[in-house]
Amino acid sequence: MKDSTNEKNQITKQFKCPNCSSIVTYTGLLGERLPITCSACGTKGIINIPGIAVKNNDSAIEISHLKKVFGDLAAVDDISLSVKKGEIFGLLGPNGAGKSTIIRMLCTLSRPTGGSATVAGYDIVKHDNKVREHIGLVSEKMIMYDELTARENLKLFGKLYNIPNDSLNKRIDELLGFVRMEKWADHKIKDFSTGMKQRINVIRALVNQPEILFLDEPTLGLDPQSTVEIRELIRRINTENGTTIILTTHIMVEADILCKRIGIIDHGKIVSLDTPANLKTCLWN
Ligand SMILES: Nc1ncnc2c1ncn2[C@@H]1O[C@H](COP(=O)(O)OP(=O)(O)OP(=O)(O)O)[C@@H](O)[C@H]1O
Ligand SMILES: [Mg+2]
Repeated sequence: MKDSTNEKNQITKQFKCPNCSSIVTYTGLLGERLPITCSACGTKGIINIPGIAVKNNDSAIEISHLKKVFGDLAAVDDISLSVKKGEIFGLLGPNGAGKSTIIRMLCTLSRPTGGSATVAGYDIVKHDNKVREHIGLVSEKMIMYDELTARENLKLFGKLYNIPNDSLNKRIDELLGFVRMEKWADHKIKDFSTGMKQRINVIRALVNQPEILFLDEPTLGLDPQSTVEIRELIRRINTENGTTIILTTHIMVEADILCKRIGIIDHGKIVSLDTPANLKTCLWN
């Protein structure tokens, strides 16, 4: 049986009908799941077009019926949504809503119980290594070694991505400049304020120049001034680098001022998804 792929990642594939053995030709996108009907005997079925591909070129993330169950608890319960390239998308919800569980699955740290998702065009289960190359994560817990300097911390994470020394040193200087912390480069993290630590923690997630940055409650525990600084930094990462950002928060104002669209999560489900302006209108009606 002959298969062929064109430049739009479309593949024409031939399948053998399990009922009458006729050959059926189908064209779809790589990685797509399609309903199929045998033209000879009418038998219906589902086919998987194998491969890795971005299904929608405008999308950074596509989530389809994603689910995570812990025992009896559906922490993430049948979530579907897509995030556009270059967007700041907010996941807003109370404690225990399922925000971090969604982020952990999208970052390939936790395997879904059901459903699927692509991040930067790659399936989070089948192509987890590829996903990791294209993302940065600032998790709820700050990942930083107190006894190392800012530069040493950044270098350590850069090494995990196998970035060669020359490019890594250049990248670290750029990033320290980006957050105006060049003069703190060789000071130990333990001497920094929480706000300064968080600035380094955020640029740490940018060392590999990710297309998509996940920020899980990035202003949690910060004082008002540091909160403003980190929000400003998030905006600049998005506007100056074009990075797609997924942000979780339980602070409505934060989602409102930063995000283009917000998904409100409760008990593992999306209860509302819209622009901040439209969500506010709904609340008032
Ligand atoms: N590894 C786990 N084992 C069992 N239950 C878990 C696990 N991880 C999360 N949960 C549960 O899943 C639910 C969702 O948790 P999650 O951490 O995703 O919520 P969240 O929206 O990030 O909350 P928060 O705002 O407190 O960070 C919670 O009830 C939590 O107790
Ligand atoms: Mg959380």
